[in-house]
Amino acid sequence: MDFYCYAVTAPGIWPFAAQEMKALGAAPLNLPAVTGNGVDAPADPGGLDFRADLASLYRLNLRLRTPGRILVRLGNFFYARTFEELRQSAARLAWERFIQPGQPVEIRVTCHKSKLYHSGAVAERIGQAIEARLGQPSPEQKGAQRVMARLVNDRLTISIDSSGENLHKRGYRLETAKAPLRETLAAALPIACGWDGNAPLLDPFCGSGTIAIEATLLALNIAPGLNRRFAFMDWPNFDEAAWQAVRAEALAAQRNAAPPILASDRDEGAIRIALANAERAGVAEHIRFARQAVSAIEPPEEPGWVVTNPPYGARVSANKDLRNLYAQLGNVLRAQCPGWRVGILSSDRALLGQTGLTLDTGIRLVNGGLAVILARGRVE
Ligand SMILES: C[S@@+](CC[C@H](N)C(=O)[O-])C[C@H]1O[C@@H](n2cnc3c(N)ncnc32)[C@H](O)[C@@H]1O
Repeated sequence: MDFYCYAVTAPGIWPFAAQEMKALGAAPLNLPAVTGNGVDAPADPGGLDFRADLASLYRLNLRLRTPGRILVRLGNFFYARTFEELRQSAARLAWERFIQPGQPVEIRVTCHKSKLYHSGAVAERIGQAIEARLGQPSPEQKGAQRVMARLVNDRLTISIDSSGENLHKRGYRLETAKAPLRETLAAALPIACGWDGNAPLLDPFCGSGTIAIEATLLALNIAPGLNRRFAFMDWPNFDEAAWQAVRAEALAAQRNAAPPILASDRDEGAIRIALANAERAGVAEHIRFARQAVSAIEPPEEPGWVVTNPPYGARVSANKDLRNLYAQLGNVLRAQCPGWRVGILSSDRALLGQTGLTLDTGIRLVNGGLAVILARGRVE
């Protein structure tokens, strides 16, 4: 049986999630068309619709690197103009597939342009509908099985979260240095830069090591979710045999050799943390960590990709130290990495300009609530 599903993606991430999804045999249904010469960027859909059976849902939760969570649509666009209409329609949904009688839930509701606008009251009616269907109340509990409801123009969509904790929580990053990237964003960067997983990759501002660790998991085709739980494991319809088959398939798809992956930072504490994170992720032996300033990098001769997230701030273009750091990065790359491809994540165009590199600044993302650019180019 197929379910309608939705993979939630952070701003700007959907094209890379779509690429990953297709590689895993799923077909996104709502891909925005890129018009004309691609200059008119399509509106960000915020996520990807697709159909999946249980095994495919398990596979995508286990193996996708860039989305934040995967929802299953339980009820789509049904009218809820009164509380009674809402309660009756919601009680007809197949809750018993996803929630055990009496299992705690966390109901999250948003209302827009609708007669029912009190999200707390809508959540209460959904709770009553679950109780009517399952014969027992499901207590509200933060962090429990999430039920998401979105009411727009009097029409309600109810979804069940299949992931549980956000998918960026891989289980390896227990410690962070300053300003760490989300793992889902860090995984998107090498994909967005077109890194092929065979050429060297270097992050000279590695902090907690997130980009290098995610790149190594990608190169070795290690599923990012192997060491975590998912909400679907508690569903009444959980198919243990299908899950074990999906896990076995992921393990069989792993590769054991990665290209040279180098991660450095001038901060000793950051390198210690990055190494500990890489060990927990099971990839430490594949990453060459070094405590060194960007000026001291020693890249391999074979050209590869520099994918990195140098320091930046909300209004840093005025900061002379950062301007010098970006200028230094440009000089070091021209001297040490001619012919390499480069992807630099930064919030500040003026700082990126300081590198003196010719960069395409077309990919806009969000990091920690701040608009950022992934600037890509080649070191000439
Ligand atoms: C924005 S953080 C990188 C965060 C990282 N992507 C992560 O996920 O944890 C920038 C890093 O650059 C390092 N850094 C600053 N100046 C540096 C320099 N001149 N050479 C090398 N590293 C430097 C800082 O110590 C910091 O860890």
